[in-house]
Amino acid sequence: MKKSVTQLLMKIYDGRADAHLDLYRLSNQHRRKHGRDCEMYPSDPLQAPLWRVVASLTHARRILEVGCGHGYTAAVMASAAGPGCRVDTIEADPRHAALAEQAFQERSLSKRINVLHGRGQNILPRLKGRYDAVFLDGDWREYPRYIPHLRRLTRPGSIVVSANLNPLFGGWGGRMRGKPAIQSYLTRLVRDPHFRTYIIPGEWHSISVRV
Ligand SMILES: C[S@@+](CC[C@H](N)C(=O)[O-])C[C@H]1O[C@@H](n2cnc3c(N)ncnc32)[C@H](O)[C@@H]1O
Repeated sequence: MKKSVTQLLMKIYDGRADAHLDLYRLSNQHRRKHGRDCEMYPSDPLQAPLWRVVASLTHARRILEVGCGHGYTAAVMASAAGPGCRVDTIEADPRHAALAEQAFQERSLSKRINVLHGRGQNILPRLKGRYDAVFLDGDWREYPRYIPHLRRLTRPGSIVVSANLNPLFGGWGGRMRGKPAIQSYLTRLVRDPHFRTYIIPGEWHSISVRV
């Protein structure tokens, strides 16, 4: 996105996209320091207002994230939903999980945000109860395996936001592996009678509501 467009949107949002920007910057600093293999890409702060919408629509009391990184989005989601909401966030890289836990402690968020150590595909089968919102922001090659758990862990009205669809459609990630997994995931999700799904062209996220 052009810098001028980003600045315009930030002006329009008037502080509503500013929560935890320090964590966003720390995430980018960490990735630059650790080089190409590091997958700590925080989501765009311009997506922060989405979580205010999702939290309001779902009256969120429980949110689940796969792919915590340094904890930027988890903190944004917790703040958007307010003190009555708990966030569970799954992280496969123990170094990232430790950084996120420290960040939550420093921000007095550790009672509200729980970091679950491990891969999404191993942790999801162990989770219980229903989440009001789910954010997938980890390894897209696992996404097809998540579908039965997305059904099991949501209730009618829950919202599932899936990021990292770019490798299939373009933008960043065009050369990355896993295109068939993304296609299979989206095809199954779109046809799943338990969900209504919209794929956002250009942004390459999808938003699904559980019906
Ligand atoms: C795009 S970053 C997440 C950024 C975070 N959601 C944010 O916006 O601040 C992806 C993170 O997912 C982690 N990850 C990769 N594969 C994963 C998996 N299968 N399960 C859980 N975490 C995974 C990476 O270590 C990395 O920290």
